Amino acid sequence: MADSTPRPPVDLRLDRPTPARMYDYFLGGKDNFAVDREAAERVKEAIPNTYEIVWENRLFLQRAVRYLAEAGIDQYIDLGTGLPTQGNVHEIAQQVIPGARVVYVDNDPIVLAYGRALLADSPTTTVITADMREPHAILGDSAVQDLIDFSRPVAVLFVAVLHFVRDSEDPLGMVKAFRGVMAPGSYLVLSHLTTDGPPPDAVARTVEVYQGATSPIVFRTREQIAQLFDGFTLQRPGLVRPWQWRPEPTDTMHTKWLYAGVGKLA
Ligand SMILES: C[S@@+](CC[C@H](N)C(=O)[O-])C[C@H]1O[C@@H](n2cnc3c(N)ncnc32)[C@H](O)[C@@H]1O
Repeated sequence: MADSTPRPPVDLRLDRPTPARMYDYFLGGKDNFAVDREAAERVKEAIPNTYEIVWENRLFLQRAVRYLAEAGIDQYIDLGTGLPTQGNVHEIAQQVIPGARVVYVDNDPIVLAYGRALLADSPTTTVITADMREPHAILGDSAVQDLIDFSRPVAVLFVAVLHFVRDSEDPLGMVKAFRGVMAPGSYLVLSHLTTDGPPPDAVARTVEVYQGATSPIVFRTREQIAQLFDGFTLQRPGLVRPWQWRPEPTDTMHTKWLYAGVGKLA
């Protein structure tokens, strides 16, 4: 029976750009508003190849999930999911393991509002609105408890999301909170914007644009990003540019704005 409980009205924050809707615009999506497009266009003035950067990241995410599903991983927590696009995590994982379970987590309510039908229309997949800065609340959420069996290996995805967390909010602590409940054989999938490579002026201009958004953006050094894998063993080829991570011959995006890797818990 359909759930007829009235839902409280959702504040989509149309007064400010949000990272989820800007990312959707960069990817070529339509689930964004004028306030997002204006901010995204300012980022594109600073970084003309945003389309390559976001797709390079998205293709990394897809290759990593396929790699893990082929290694037998059948449960995933995708933190900072973003709006649904082509090749969502459950679609990739379920091509390999039809019963694979996926919990999507995003703190932007638009992801639940727009993504419910596409991301959660199945007993093995769900989407929740939650903030990864409160990892214990996510771990205690009934949807997570129902779908994920923490006594078995799980993949936790922090893909292009920890750069929306300030140092003072302890990004390392967030990864650690998940690591603490992950069974041996679990995986961490992570990508992150970096200061190592891009022109400092373009980085500074991008940081400035996000100061007007619902979340700031924080570029980190390769060394700082490597620390996020503490306790995990990086799988080959290590912490590299997303396009260098087990690339397909058809991948043509080659930028130097992010680092990405997959770590395994012993
Ligand atoms: C750049 S998108 C990345 C989407 C997807 N992971 C990918 O790589 O294609 C970042 C997403 O993280 C979400 N996000 C940012 N801060 C978050 C937080 N504190 N908790 C949960 N989600 C967050 C944003 O709303 C946005 O949807």
